[in-house]
Amino acid sequence: HGHEGRAEVPQAGDPGLRLLKRVGVVDPESLDDYRATGGYQALRAALVLGPAGVIREVSDAKLVGRGGAAFPTGRKWAATAGQPVRPHYLVCNADESEPGTFKDRLLMEGDPFAVIESMTIAGYAAGCSKGYLYLRGEYPRALHLLRNAIARARERNFLGDDIMGQEGFSFDIEIRRGAGAYICGEETAIFNSIEGFRGEPRSKPPFPVESGLFGKPTVVNNVETLVNVPLILTEGCEAYLRTGTAGSTGPKLFCLSGNVSRPGVYEVPFGTTLSELLDLAGGVPPGRELRAVLLGGAAGGFVRPDELDLPLTLEDARAAGTTLGSGVVLVLDDTADLGSFLLRIAAFFRDESCGQCVPCRIGTVRQEEAMARLVGKRPLSTSAADLQLLREVGQVMRDSSICGLGQTAWNAIESALDRLGYAREAS
Ligand code: NAI
Ligand code: SF4
Repeated sequence: HGHEGRAEVPQAGDPGLRLLKRVGVVDPESLDDYRATGGYQALRAALVLGPAGVIREVSDAKLVGRGGAAFPTGRKWAATAGQPVRPHYLVCNADESEPGTFKDRLLMEGDPFAVIESMTIAGYAAGCSKGYLYLRGEYPRALHLLRNAIARARERNFLGDDIMGQEGFSFDIEIRRGAGAYICGEETAIFNSIEGFRGEPRSKPPFPVESGLFGKPTVVNNVETLVNVPLILTEGCEAYLRTGTAGSTGPKLFCLSGNVSRPGVYEVPFGTTLSELLDLAGGVPPGRELRAVLLGGAAGGFVRPDELDLPLTLEDARAAGTTLGSGVVLVLDDTADLGSFLLRIAAFFRDESCGQCVPCRIGTVRQEEAMARLVGKRPLSTSAADLQLLREVGQVMRDSSICGLGQTAWNAIESALDRLGYAREAS
């Protein structure tokens, strides 16, 4: 699932880059390179600030999660830090599996020490003694580089006991690998996977900050979220707040794929418009017309060619009926077969449903069947009845599924019907 090709960094070495500043520039195996480019200055600053000071900086910077749900990071850390039960755990969610998402891969392959340092800072702030890095199984190069980074960091006391000479601060990291299941990126399915159970989501609440891995208070953060933390601590949150908008602060990585001239990962400030971002990627191939952009991934929504002045912020995306999700910008031009594309999304959700709850297990099957009839892959198409069925099944999945997979499995198809007029074409 997702993007198979190597992600390009069209602007490697550009002085305006902050999240990607080392990617394609430093040797990702070298701790010396990392330190020569500012590595571990943020952890040093964190140890001076103390855990509460770090949480305050991250909260003041208004950092929100970059995995897709945009929950305030500082609130998560504070909630875990305040739990009297010990130990606390940190989980870095590196099971990047959303179709069209490949930004965390680039960070882990291009700047693995930054991921390790950022996890250490998060662990310090939330009082965690151990961190698990749950890595997508299909990322062997990231695995190699992260293993190396952990080993080098241990050798120099950036992991282990009394880190950087700070008495009593112990933290270490263990890598666990997924085995190809999309659902294992759902945070509570990660817990089950690490604990040795089947990778099925748990009901929330209780939220992980209270009862997570092994039933203990747990912080779960996406890779890109964590990598923002050293920026905040070294630049200061005042400087950090100068990038983006009041509601969406800082830089953001977007993954451009589909019918664009230069697919890849792009770092831009929140608030950049969709058309500016498409221009950076060279637009649709010459001679083609833009048809639609799927924003936010399979659980996101479509943006039409007449809506490209959309500022890429959490608030504007929400107002436009979609989400930025994990930063997916999947471009379809006039040669793309929208019906097949939607059918592929339906098949994806049917395939990846863990089967634990009925609305999603059965609903994703019914949805795919109805889509298959609509796009004409099976005879006896009854469009009106199928459209009604799709809406009913979609609503039931949204209202009554246990986790985000079932709750969002109908989003893209609904968006195509309502915003792109797909139903009119199909009927
Ligand atoms: P969610 O909204 O349930 O939770 C977001 C985070 O906030 C979680 O860590 C949750 O534990 C925490 N949280 C929520 N309410 C809380 C509270 N009251 N107290 C403490 N913590 C609280 O969303 P979920 O299901 O974790 O993520 C859904 C998103 O994941 C979607 O937006 C989708 O775009 C994205 N996604 C990303 C993928 C990727 O590969 N990056 C793959 C699939 C989905
Ligand atoms: Fe499993 Fe789907 Fe239910 Fe989530 S919504 S728990 S993926 S069956």
